Amino acid sequence: MREDEALALDAADPLPTLRSEFHVPPSAGRFPEVAYFAGNSLGLQPRATRAALLTELDDWARLGVAGHFEATHPWLPYHEELRGPAARLVGARPEETVVMNSLTVNLHLMMASFYRPAGDRRRILIEDNAFPSDSYAVRSQAAFHGLDPDQDVVRMPVDSIVDYLAREGERVALVLLGGVNYLTGEVLDIPAVTAAGHAAGCLVGWDLAHAAGNIPLQLHDWGPDFAAWCSYKYLNSGPGAVAGCFVHSRHLADPALPRLAGWWGTNPATRFLMRPVAEPVPTADAWQVSNPPILAMAPVRVSLEMFDRVGMAALRAKSERLTGYLASLLEGLPGLRVITPTDPARRGCQLSIRVSEAGKLAEVLREEDGVVTDVREPDTIRLAPAPLYSTYHDCWRAVEALSRRLR
Ligand SMILES: Cc1ncc(COP(=O)(O)O)c(C=O)c1O
Repeated sequence: MREDEALALDAADPLPTLRSEFHVPPSAGRFPEVAYFAGNSLGLQPRATRAALLTELDDWARLGVAGHFEATHPWLPYHEELRGPAARLVGARPEETVVMNSLTVNLHLMMASFYRPAGDRRRILIEDNAFPSDSYAVRSQAAFHGLDPDQDVVRMPVDSIVDYLAREGERVALVLLGGVNYLTGEVLDIPAVTAAGHAAGCLVGWDLAHAAGNIPLQLHDWGPDFAAWCSYKYLNSGPGAVAGCFVHSRHLADPALPRLAGWWGTNPATRFLMRPVAEPVPTADAWQVSNPPILAMAPVRVSLEMFDRVGMAALRAKSERLTGYLASLLEGLPGLRVITPTDPARRGCQLSIRVSEAGKLAEVLREEDGVVTDVREPDTIRLAPAPLYSTYHDCWRAVEALSRRLR
């Protein structure tokens, strides 16, 4: 494991790093900047974000309410500008995507439409290591329908799901799973699980918090009923950033579908006639409830432009090279165990390692070596080299520090 080899790999990679387009926090120790592996928690700030935000503030100062029509990016149709790039990011049609709210809120809005328990078909199926917010959301949905979450929310290991659907699927109303598991970094077979859910007559939704901007997605072709993702991880749009949502085209023109409505889901041509009954548009916009928070949308616009410019195919290829390099350096290191699948097709950029005293180790790595990771208690450290700004040299730094600290 040699530093000059890592530097040579950085110099030779067919997709040069875009690190200089980001603010990378300063580091303790020998290097001026941190080696940042926490982009699966909060992505770094693109340098272009500040200017984009200032444009909106300046337009508001200069134009007041007229900014709805006359701002550099007019506010009234602001979300429409994000639709195309968001759709390209997740392999959807533009009319199937909308940037709105935050992730768990979107999951609830989706479940208001797509979790319709009836008769014996009332269970919600989730994975046993689902992100807690998803567990709370589905339990509260079951309770909201007067059901007992202990009975009707079924948790199981991801590799049992397809068999369970074949056996018990007629009792399942909704399958809701994470496309990439937050803890292990495992990529689920989204098309196969979606098909198994549909074959059993269930509706199928995906939480793509750890998938969007990490792995290529083909949501339209894979056919889930809905999906939602956040924009603060791989999409680098800032803490609590506005999230994304996908509704498959087969549902867009269904007048029978129940929906929690608000005025931004109605036909924009008649919105300001102030009528009492909504006319939902036949696009994912119909699930928008409120008018969009422009100051929070500007960073998402910057981020999606960057993904559009680079393209998910090139980014994923670099991600496989970087994560493969990190995995090869970690191999055989005493005192840790990588729990992420070794097959590159079954993982994104994140590698999760089990170590003892993970919290203490991560703190020393951050404070003394300038290597920023994150910890999921009690024993897991997650390292995610995000291919837009992480380098082979960062990977070398992480493993060099780990090997020194675990000695
Ligand atoms: C997989 C997953 N689902 C849901 C959430 C919760 O997201 P939010 O707080 O944006 O609703 C997170 C947050 O990290 C997550 O990782």
